Amino acid sequence: MLTSQFLIDEKICCGRGCRMCPYEPKHIKGNAELQKRWDLSKQSSYNIAMNKIGIPMIGLGTWLIPNDVAEQVSTDAIELGYRHIDTAQVYQNEEGVGKALASSSVSRKDIFITTKMWPGMFGQEEPFQNFKGAIGACDNSLKLLQVDEIDLYLIHNPFAKDNRLEQWEAMVELKKQGKVKNIGVSNYNVKHISEIESAGLEMPVANQIEIHPWHVVRTELAQYMDAHDILPIAYSSLAPIPNWREGSRWNGKPEDMKSGAIPCQNLADQYGVTVPQLFLKWAIQLGYPVLPKSVHLNRLKENLDLDHFTISRDDIKIISKIAKDDQKCLAWSGDFDPIDVD
Ligand SMILES: NC(=O)c1ccc[n+]([C@@H]2O[C@H](COP(=O)([O-])OP(=O)(O)OC[C@H]3O[C@@H](n4cnc5c(N)ncnc54)[C@H](OP(=O)(O)O)[C@@H]3O)[C@@H](O)[C@H]2O)c1
Repeated sequence: MLTSQFLIDEKICCGRGCRMCPYEPKHIKGNAELQKRWDLSKQSSYNIAMNKIGIPMIGLGTWLIPNDVAEQVSTDAIELGYRHIDTAQVYQNEEGVGKALASSSVSRKDIFITTKMWPGMFGQEEPFQNFKGAIGACDNSLKLLQVDEIDLYLIHNPFAKDNRLEQWEAMVELKKQGKVKNIGVSNYNVKHISEIESAGLEMPVANQIEIHPWHVVRTELAQYMDAHDILPIAYSSLAPIPNWREGSRWNGKPEDMKSGAIPCQNLADQYGVTVPQLFLKWAIQLGYPVLPKSVHLNRLKENLDLDHFTISRDDIKIISKIAKDDQKCLAWSGDFDPIDVD
């Protein structure tokens, strides 16, 4: 993992192509794809050409938005200019998102929709999803979202050890049937994705993972995804800010992180932006699409307003250096990381 120790000790790019490289990246030289992404990131935060699946760089996150609120928030977001909405079967708000899509004056083809199949959870009576169940889950999401096709369909986590490949086979089948345009995974580590590779199946095009300066992508995973052209999509980009998921039981932060000072406030002040804007732009400049969630119109606006500043490479390094050693993810429970499951 790119720990703060690593970042401080190495002082220069290791040349292995880590996506989180905070230095003048050596590995960009001769890597046309990375060079293109870096150059484009300097031109426009929204540029969809930065990735091969055409996913906008800023999307609306919807976890913890109740179904009856999701319609209004999604409508507001689309009107403000969001062109990607991220939802999931388990969020139980696909219906609200679907109503917003159906009533929007923006054409369906101009809005990118991600949703996720819930594979099952440890310790629950309900069995892990099988092939047939996964197909049915997708059909249900299509109905709730009122769309004929999902732009990106993900397996939400790798928990279903014995069913993981079967679930992936269902994803491949759904793509074949034209119900989903792109298939990917979420919270998968190298071990989990390698199972797909070893089985000779079509590979995922994206892996949605927790990425922010306190939880960077581990080197091995970053290199594996680069090698297989798997796009990392960042969730919980705002986790380091003290009010993140305030009052929610779904907040894995230790108490000292909840109450501490806002990290990088000085740097944000220097750019004349807010800390959320700084963290979102940090991720985008490193090539990760982001999914900021808010139910407040002013914050939705703020989180989209990222084109008027560019973080210098030196400051990208400074932000990356706040990485905590071996920090577990914060979005799940705080005491385990979903990408570490067997
Ligand atoms: N695949 C997965 O396992 C997974 C896991 C977690 C998340 N996700 C996806 O990623 C999305 C984003 O992650 P997230 O919801 O964990 O967190 P996030 O978007 O990083 O942060 C959301 C929190 O920050 C607050 N906030 C948003 N913008 C703000 C601003 N400009 N200033 C101050 N506070 C602000 C929100 O409060 P208000 O709403 O009150 O504004 C909320 O408490 C999710 O909604 C979901 O779609 C996926």
